[in-house]
Amino acid sequence: MMCLKLIVLVAIFAAGASGDLEFTFNGFRSANLSLDGIAEITPDGLLRLTNETMLQKGRAFYPMPITFKNSPNASAFSFSTTFVCAMVPQNPSLFTHGLTFAITPPGGLPGALPYPYFGLFNDTSDGNSSNHVVAVELDTLQNREFDDIDNNHVGIDINGLRSALAKSAGYYQGNQVHNFSLGSGKPIQVWVEYDGRAKQMNVTVAPFSVGKPSKPLLSFPHDISLDILETVSLGFTSATGSTVSTQYVLGWSFKLNGVAQELDPSKLPKLPRVGPKRKSRFLVIGVPLISIVSLVIVLSGVGYYVLRKRKFAELLEDWELEYGPHRFHYKELYLATKGFSEKQLLGAGGFGRVYRGVLPNSQGEIAVKKIYHQSTQGMKAFIAEVVSMGRLCHRNLVPLLGYCRRKRELFLVYDYMPNGSLDKYLFDNPVHTLGWNQRFEVIKGVASALFYLHEGWEQIVVHRDIKASNILLDSEGNGRIGDFGLARLYDHGTDPQTTHIVGTLGYLAPEYVRTGKATTSSDVFAFGAFLLEVACGRRPIESKAPNEDLALVEWVFSWWSRGEILEAIDPKLGKDYVIEEVDIVLKLGLLCSLLDIEFRPSIRQVVRYLEGSVALPELSLLTLSTAGLIVSRSEGFDDFVLSLSNFEGNSGCSSITNSTISEGR
Ligand SMILES: *[C@@H]1O[C@H](CO)[C@@H](O)[C@H](O)[C@H]1NC(C)=O
Ligand SMILES: *[C@@H]1O[C@H](CO)[C@@H](O)[C@H](O)[C@H]1NC(C)=O
Ligand SMILES: *[C@@H]1O[C@H](CO)[C@@H](O)[C@H](O)[C@H]1NC(C)=O
Ligand SMILES: *[C@@H]1O[C@H](CO)[C@@H](O)[C@H](O)[C@H]1NC(C)=O
Ligand SMILES: *[C@@H]1O[C@H](CO)[C@@H](O)[C@H](O)[C@H]1NC(C)=O
Repeated sequence: MMCLKLIVLVAIFAAGASGDLEFTFNGFRSANLSLDGIAEITPDGLLRLTNETMLQKGRAFYPMPITFKNSPNASAFSFSTTFVCAMVPQNPSLFTHGLTFAITPPGGLPGALPYPYFGLFNDTSDGNSSNHVVAVELDTLQNREFDDIDNNHVGIDINGLRSALAKSAGYYQGNQVHNFSLGSGKPIQVWVEYDGRAKQMNVTVAPFSVGKPSKPLLSFPHDISLDILETVSLGFTSATGSTVSTQYVLGWSFKLNGVAQELDPSKLPKLPRVGPKRKSRFLVIGVPLISIVSLVIVLSGVGYYVLRKRKFAELLEDWELEYGPHRFHYKELYLATKGFSEKQLLGAGGFGRVYRGVLPNSQGEIAVKKIYHQSTQGMKAFIAEVVSMGRLCHRNLVPLLGYCRRKRELFLVYDYMPNGSLDKYLFDNPVHTLGWNQRFEVIKGVASALFYLHEGWEQIVVHRDIKASNILLDSEGNGRIGDFGLARLYDHGTDPQTTHIVGTLGYLAPEYVRTGKATTSSDVFAFGAFLLEVACGRRPIESKAPNEDLALVEWVFSWWSRGEILEAIDPKLGKDYVIEEVDIVLKLGLLCSLLDIEFRPSIRQVVRYLEGSVALPELSLLTLSTAGLIVSRSEGFDDFVLSLSNFEGNSGCSSITNSTISEGR
């Protein structure tokens, strides 16, 4: 029952509504207009009367005929309508073709033509009173044939295009008319109102953004009752000529005997943003500018981030996590050394450059050794060794604090030794030299540290590169061995099939050069050379010296064989030395330099000799020649040269090895 009542009510309401026809289209998507010519509804709901096809007409009518009068001779009803349209030229320098709002016989006049007839009339029908057409034209062309006033006018046309009344497009604000362009492509709104009782038609136009002006542009006192048929079609017409333009209607509202509902701007479809004129300055300049600026900002941001990320990138693998405390961040080291600046450079050696730095947190001074390495192969074992060496603790070892790893770089972090390396105080007429007592303390310290490395720890650590320049003086002047274990990097990092000699010429034991196998004994050999250089203030091999004095060991031996070993002593010491100690150091130097490892003492023995707890064995010419000091020494030296030329051809480590060797010269 309830349902039935409702249906009846709806039917009555519909009947009442049909009496005073009323419709509102905010966009035409659901409007079902009857279209003619090239008119179409776009997917957005725009009514597009014409497109870019020349000499075409486009018409769109309300789908049903509308009764405008009660009988053929009766007065026409009042009506009110408003619509929003836009006329878009193909390009800003061209014109548009205008459009009309028309009341026509049902379906429009047959045989209507495009430009200049708006798809409303043709050359024979134009102006014929039997056309029964009342139209409002928005004309953007001045056609002399129709006595057009200008090329931007609004006119009321009765049965023909010679307007009954026309005015330049404009809108009132108060009593002032503001001109505006109909064909600018911007939406404009038109209100057409006919008062059936007063017999007056008013037409108002304004840019859509302005709203409805209080005063109409055209007020035309005229009874349209005889002009129009009892039943009419209501709609829009437009046409293109030899050029094209696009005419749109965005929304349309109509009411018979009442005021048409206003259109809802928010519901109207948007005009397609085409044609340069439609682009705002913001779009033309602002958007690209903003895009470019944003892009630059974003790119530089990303770039900065990437660079920063890359700058501080380091290699950290799972296996390294266990070395936590020994692992430094690259950034830390970078900041500590002021970006590895040249000012912080302490020295450059065979293994790489050493930079001085200050750790930000602890304020501790560090020396960072930056080593370039070729392969990551064996790195794991090496790092393990480095870290385990970090546990080495002896007052004559430079503490190894930790490491950091990057793609091609390895950083070893040591305590900073403020007094630099020993060689600075020994060779090349130093500004400051060391007195004998200090030299002897340094020698004993280095010997005990080497003893610790060879025998005092859980595993044997062969240093491989004992020499004055690797002995550093701490703040108290104690000698400390630096760079221990570094040579192992090249063992781990390269093909085990090939032998690489790492060390410094003049300190290299001949058997090490031959076999490539570093032993504690080869360390003792190097220590022997070290003893001689500390006592004599000369490098093991002085390249500038005359030939006979080339090798320090031979030079010392020659003094010894003449019974004048004290003549070999560093003249910088003057008379300030202890004869017994110098004697022991020089003879021990010769002993350690024996080519035959059978005759070389162990480091344990060396320490004892130096302490004086065990007397040095008496050196005899026989011992020395049997062990091959003199003759074999020069043979050994030839070996070095031979070896040098041999590993010249080796790739990978050879350059480092060579530079290490040349450094020792
Ligand atoms: C114009 O509209 C007609 C009818 O919809 C269509 O056949 C024609 O291809 C259109 N022309 C252009 C240039 O879009
Ligand atoms: C309508 O008016 C015309 C002339 O004005 C007249 O000839 C005709 O008879 C009228 N018809 C009606 C139904 O009044
Ligand atoms: C011109 O228009 C009239 C009225 O609409 C029509 O009857 C006639 O056929 C048209 N002429 C041409 C040539 O299409
Ligand atoms: C007006 O049109 C009608 C019908 O189409 C025709 O009979 C008549 O001759 C036309 N009048 C003029 C002046 O062309
Ligand atoms: C408006 O246009 C008309 C006709 O083109 C012109 O006479 C008038 O001066 C214009 N008014 C203004 C304010 O531009």
